Amino acid sequence: MTAIKKNKTYELDIIDLAFGGKGLAKPDGLPVFIDRCIPGDRVFAKIIKKKKSWAEGKLIKILTPSSFRTAGKCDYRNYCGGCKWQELAYGLQLEYKKRHVIESLHHIGGLKDVPVHDVIPSDPVYEFRNKMEFSCSPKRWLMPEELENEAVIKDFGIGLHVPGTFDKVIDIRRCEIMPGLGNEILDEVRTFIKASALPAYDLKTHEGFWRFLMLRHSVAFDTWMVNMVTREKRLEVVSNLCDRLTRKFPQIESVMNNITDAKSGVSTGQEEICLFGKDHIQEKLGKFLFKISANSFFQTNTRSCEKLYATVSRYAGLKGTEIVLDLYSGTGTIPIWLSDQAKQVYGIEIVKSAVVDAKANAGLNGIENCEFLEGDIKDVLPGLKILPDVMIIDPPRVGMHKDVVDQVLAMGPGKIVYVSCNPATLARDLEMLSLNYAVKEIQPVDMFPHTFHIESVALLVKKE
Ligand SMILES: C[S@@+](CC[C@H](N)C(=O)[O-])C[C@H]1O[C@@H](n2cnc3c(N)ncnc32)[C@H](O)[C@@H]1O
Repeated sequence: MTAIKKNKTYELDIIDLAFGGKGLAKPDGLPVFIDRCIPGDRVFAKIIKKKKSWAEGKLIKILTPSSFRTAGKCDYRNYCGGCKWQELAYGLQLEYKKRHVIESLHHIGGLKDVPVHDVIPSDPVYEFRNKMEFSCSPKRWLMPEELENEAVIKDFGIGLHVPGTFDKVIDIRRCEIMPGLGNEILDEVRTFIKASALPAYDLKTHEGFWRFLMLRHSVAFDTWMVNMVTREKRLEVVSNLCDRLTRKFPQIESVMNNITDAKSGVSTGQEEICLFGKDHIQEKLGKFLFKISANSFFQTNTRSCEKLYATVSRYAGLKGTEIVLDLYSGTGTIPIWLSDQAKQVYGIEIVKSAVVDAKANAGLNGIENCEFLEGDIKDVLPGLKILPDVMIIDPPRVGMHKDVVDQVLAMGPGKIVYVSCNPATLARDLEMLSLNYAVKEIQPVDMFPHTFHIESVALLVKKE
């Protein structure tokens, strides 16, 4: 094959999956990354970026599909940014996720001998998400079969964004990763908005009324929260929508209206109004109850979250006498989960409302041995008078701040359980911690089927 050139199209064989979940072809030894491809596919792809040592291609057509392809469930899988691995058999998804963790440890952290276990799968692999957020847009992205159809309304869509476009949404009729009733609620909201005289919010002009629909589902109680995010306060309009929804769907326990005119795409309101029921729904993790408000953080795959926390318990190996410190404690779910396994559990978290929720959740469960501290960990740790036996660390995707790594090394707990949603920062942080700690083993847990994302739990034990 001649040297690969930008804007030219080529027939390429996908030989592997690369970091970020893209297919990898290697014409003349040059790595070419192509989205939505699977090893074994022969594809026709256009080169859209060309660098010295790699290139990026856009899939034009699958010429010969890989034998690893399975039937995806969702009609939008080739366009929506959500579940790009849907046609890759689930068993293979798990193998690639495990390999991604191992390769990150090797290449980024230089950690070659750490045992990485098989990924604990998600069960189920569809209808697993307990929270979905759909955007309203006056610019609907048209599916190929809709392009010629005059009857299709083009100036409104409610659904998910097409990757690479910031203001166009696919009008999603059915999202397969959300429990079924969510799709019926979504459809009812769509019908109401279309019939209302009010337009969807436009991200370019910052005009329009309807911004987001956020749905939360409680697995334990099979109840729903509907949170309608609007640009202005117009109670007469949203109350009508609320009446219509609650009459039709008795499973709806809470209807909220978050109001924000912020120009960024955030859905948290400057004002929040409870239109129906309580301002939260309840969920259970194991035997513990949790109050979840519209804007609280809660792991989005409830059943996998229980498996994740069970792994944290197993690695922590508590006997009931230990002091545990949980860094990045969110709404207190890990401290509460560990509360009856330890003497005392402390959590540190930067978001005030999460700390408020954590305290309320401990109270809801009658727990008295959890204490939650608010602040940036790197500022709170130096003044802390606690010497923990075990530390749990569950940072955001960017991983730990270098100062925090130094503070943890200085505190020197006997054991660290590190929970990570990003294998790259996991590898980087473990390498730094391995100065004083042996990385014993890693258990990946799948929280996000059909994506390349993977959660991991690592056990670190202090060196003698
Ligand atoms: C991955 S979440 C973990 C939440 C919790 N462990 C759970 O399982 O639900 C990370 C948390 O770290 C918090 N966070 C981020 N940066 C922080 C910082 N510098 N100091 C304290 N908390 C921080 C975020 O607000 C978020 O709640």
